[in-house]
Amino acid sequence: MNVAAAPIDLAVIGGTGLYQLADLQDVESHQPVTRYGAPSGPVRIGTLDGHRVAFLARHGEGHSLPPHQINYRANLAALQALGAQRVLALNTVGGITERFGPRVLGCPDQLIDYTWGRISTLCEEPGTEVLHVDFGEPYTRSLREAVVAAAARAGVALVDGGCYGATQGPRLETRAEIARMKRDGCDLVGMTGMPEAGLAREFGLDYACLAIVANWAAGAGQDPDEVITLQDVLDNVAAASSGLPPLLRAVLAG
Ligand code: HPA
Repeated sequence: MNVAAAPIDLAVIGGTGLYQLADLQDVESHQPVTRYGAPSGPVRIGTLDGHRVAFLARHGEGHSLPPHQINYRANLAALQALGAQRVLALNTVGGITERFGPRVLGCPDQLIDYTWGRISTLCEEPGTEVLHVDFGEPYTRSLREAVVAAAARAGVALVDGGCYGATQGPRLETRAEIARMKRDGCDLVGMTGMPEAGLAREFGLDYACLAIVANWAAGAGQDPDEVITLQDVLDNVAAASSGLPPLLRAVLAG
């Protein structure tokens, strides 16, 4: 693709229940095609308090793509080609440990990847350089710290740290799977955290996750028989999202 890339202050990838950034002004839409194919949908670039912000709905604006069919490489390649260096990933998740009940916002600092069969590297094609990027600290420390500090300044409650477990989906997990993830050290469970974070590292992008807890993961809440419904997920994401505009504004204000 060949797009003149004026820098973007922040790119935001929206997850389940988050298909647009309502406060963006003067929005232009881009439909880039990258060497990895087309991203999930249009990249909307606009301004927020005078800062250039890009937004991409990870599942498509009509939520048509399940987690394992998202072209994570194309999404990140498109944002990078349009001028983004910092990517804030919004991920709707289930909460496993006590600090992460429904409607909590979290900024995890670790992850475990349980996904399989997804294209998870830029080294997939024959002849590409083999990369072994360091991934001991999977999220970019400076961006995480900026998000945590911004939340404090904006008065938005945010849990700093925690381990995100990325599952294959699209089905939710069994109680035994969640119990195992808890024993493994996971605090949160979602379906889209990987390969996105690993690819961002390969692309050389700064990347952090803002997790929005939509439900107790299977068997993790008070009622072990609770059934997780999509409506509960969407209601809780909508309620927790009220903290996002002030948080994003504070991240941009730096
Ligand atoms: N598990 C996996 N992904 C999720 C969940 C969950 O409980 N809730 C929202 N995304």
